[in-house]
Amino acid sequence: MPVEFLGIAATNDGSETTPRSGAAFDKGYTLRLARAHEEHGWDRVLFAYGSGAPDPAPAAAYVASRLEKLQILLAHRPNVSYPTFAAKTFATLDQISEGRLTVHFITGGNDHEQGREGDTLTKDERYARTREYIDVVKKIWTTHEPFDHEGDHYRFHDFVSDVFPVQQPRPGVSFGGSSPAAYAAGGAEADIYCLWGEPLAETAEQIGAVEAAAKAAGRTETPRIQVAFRPIIAPTEELAWEKAHRTVGAIRQRREEGLVRQPRRGSRGNPENTGSQRLLAIAEAGERYDRALWTPTAAATGGAGNSNALVGTPETVAQALLDYYDLGVDILSARGYDLLDDAIDFGRYVIPIVREEVAKRDAERVARGALAGVNG
Ligand SMILES: Cc1cc2nc3c(=O)[nH]c(=O)nc-3n(C[C@H](O)[C@H](O)[C@H](O)COP(=O)(O)O)c2cc1C
Repeated sequence: MPVEFLGIAATNDGSETTPRSGAAFDKGYTLRLARAHEEHGWDRVLFAYGSGAPDPAPAAAYVASRLEKLQILLAHRPNVSYPTFAAKTFATLDQISEGRLTVHFITGGNDHEQGREGDTLTKDERYARTREYIDVVKKIWTTHEPFDHEGDHYRFHDFVSDVFPVQQPRPGVSFGGSSPAAYAAGGAEADIYCLWGEPLAETAEQIGAVEAAAKAAGRTETPRIQVAFRPIIAPTEELAWEKAHRTVGAIRQRREEGLVRQPRRGSRGNPENTGSQRLLAIAEAGERYDRALWTPTAAATGGAGNSNALVGTPETVAQALLDYYDLGVDILSARGYDLLDDAIDFGRYVIPIVREEVAKRDAERVARGALAGVNG
């Protein structure tokens, strides 16, 4: 199976280690960063969503209209719009990008952050709403006759869209979350299920949960799996580890100065979303796992999203990523701490090794299949 690489489409140059140098929406940087991904072997970039952040949909439209090949993964929170409206936005964006859109539906892991834009549902209620929302969006993308919808969260009558996606039957649906409610909703609806980078054993456990949920929802095909890391690479192992310690030092320093945003803690002092709780528990149990996974970067950010590092030479990091490929992960997501330079380095030095090794593994599998055919 082919492997794909997902990078990040930030709208400014800030990260956990570096203050941003300009405005939150820096038009020139947004395009430069996306172009660096396109020119260095990446398949797709994620336009993330945050309550106060620049709206990712027009940013994605801008990038798609200026670049030829790079695919778009647009994060979208159902609470911020009605699904009829969102389905048209997505279809229009799929037209602008000539079929390069996938939508990442975000349920929201934190009540306070959700409340900033008026969402008062509990997390489990939000997952039920996301599921209904995705269902409605899929129907609008594929239905050419007016229809009514009577659901728990949305009711509307006589709706038909006049704009349809280029991709047929529809664009891909991506989904993330690590709680039982997340597995149930994403297992039923997602084409791509996204996980934050954890050790191999824990990743296998989550893949099993997604597969079981998809099966319970009556699906014969399971979602493709995507896993996200923060690679820290350098020409030698020693230099990579020096860089890793420098990186975590910078995160801690900025955190002490109150400059790194952390997931808001719930009443028990823990992040509310299961994904971040898992990252913190893993970091507490150990710093290093498997070939190159390093957890202090996750601990230093309070388990804020994609935060576990893979540290080493490009060869080591590529081999570590291949271990995930061998588990059944076929979309590898990566983001550095210097977003632009790290996207270029990873694209130059890591992606070609992984693609070559994947091609070898696939050719060997085909050869083994042919041999089994001859012998059988
Ligand atoms: C790869 C990935 C990307 C995500 N991107 C965003 C994002 O841009 N904005 C956001 O608010 N949440 C984002 N999330 C959070 C999830 O969509 C979800 O709301 C949260 O993880 C739910 O928590 P749970 O683990 O308790 O189910 C992302 C999650 C994953 C796995």
